[in-house]
Amino acid sequence: MIKIEHLRKEYPNVTPLKDVSVEINDGDVISVIGPSGMGKSTLLRCINRLEEPTSGRILVNGTEITDPKCDINRVRQKMGMVFQSFNLFGHLTVIENLMLSPVDLLGKSKQEAYDEGMRLLRTVGLAEKALSYPDELSGGQKQRIAIARTLAMDPDIILLDEPTSALDPTMVGEVQAVIRDLAKTGKTMMIVTHEMNFARAISSRVFYMDENGIYEDGTPEQIFEHPQREKTRCFVRQLKVLELNIESRDYDFLGMAGEIDTYCHKNQIAPKTAGRIQLAFEETAQLLLPRLKDPRVRAVCEYSAAAEKAEWTFTYGGEALDVTEKGDELALAVLKGMTESVDSSRNEDAELPNTLRLVIRSE
Ligand SMILES: Nc1ncnc2c1ncn2[C@@H]1O[C@H](COP(=O)(O)OP(=O)(O)O)[C@@H](O)[C@H]1O
Ligand SMILES: [Mg+2]
Repeated sequence: MIKIEHLRKEYPNVTPLKDVSVEINDGDVISVIGPSGMGKSTLLRCINRLEEPTSGRILVNGTEITDPKCDINRVRQKMGMVFQSFNLFGHLTVIENLMLSPVDLLGKSKQEAYDEGMRLLRTVGLAEKALSYPDELSGGQKQRIAIARTLAMDPDIILLDEPTSALDPTMVGEVQAVIRDLAKTGKTMMIVTHEMNFARAISSRVFYMDENGIYEDGTPEQIFEHPQREKTRCFVRQLKVLELNIESRDYDFLGMAGEIDTYCHKNQIAPKTAGRIQLAFEETAQLLLPRLKDPRVRAVCEYSAAAEKAEWTFTYGGEALDVTEKGDELALAVLKGMTESVDSSRNEDAELPNTLRLVIRSE
């Protein structure tokens, strides 16, 4: 079991991990997902001490590996790491790559290391390449060899940092197949990946990383189907989000129109949909603002590139308004013409308790 307590990692300009505490159980297969720069690699690299944590403790089966007295080479033998770039030794044949560490570090005989190496090459489908040099192999084959080499040390824990992201798309499948088989063997694994379907299929647990740590930790079903927190939801649904805050009746509507324009442009939203997003904002603001005592309105547009769907969520304070009931008839007609649905809800506990949600017509 890996126990992480208040792990913090600072670099001069950023602190990707602020205060991470988590327990990883034997046999967990954990996919680590999240936007780039959120500390996924840093977390893996702290766990096998390729990075020195700034503070906090990491215990592996009760041994504190962050203790300066700890023999880190012994720890690393039990923790295999697979990198994006395969890091094979170019001057050694494939089988020699697999035999090197077991002979040098584990004291295995050459025969033992050879037999085990060949067995592992068969499991990754590359026994016939035993006498080739890495340069003679494709990227997908190199990565399968790198995985076999990691397994040759018989690690308890395998850490994989984006193992398929340097590969040509045609080779991703063969490497994923090897990792998928490995995940069934009961070894503890942590794998950083951008391939969501793959993450879903192989893992028993998912860490979504954001805001300087593990932002949400759950089963694949929770993270991908029912994410509990907002950023996870946006990430897994690949939503592009724009947030506008109106603070007064004299808000800068031209500035906001410009922001909406930039947002639509940046996310390559079709011109027709973009026009509706723009107009829906203007009309809703026009319907709401004159009737609110407190003019603060938070407007969030979410666009799903996958579904080509956009929706606006307006939240505001005070009493709930029924915008569809009375008021500006023209604004209302325009709004109805370009939305699939308009619905309201109220959450008494929120700072701005009223929500108005508009789903933009997309055809
Ligand atoms: N050796 C380093 N020195 C300074 N900053 C670093 C170093 N390694 C990573 N970072 C920064 O730490 C943040 C997290 O990086 P990383 O863990 O690689 O993110 P991820 O793997 O999620 O993309 C990034 O802002 C990155 O620029
Ligand atoms: Mg990374």
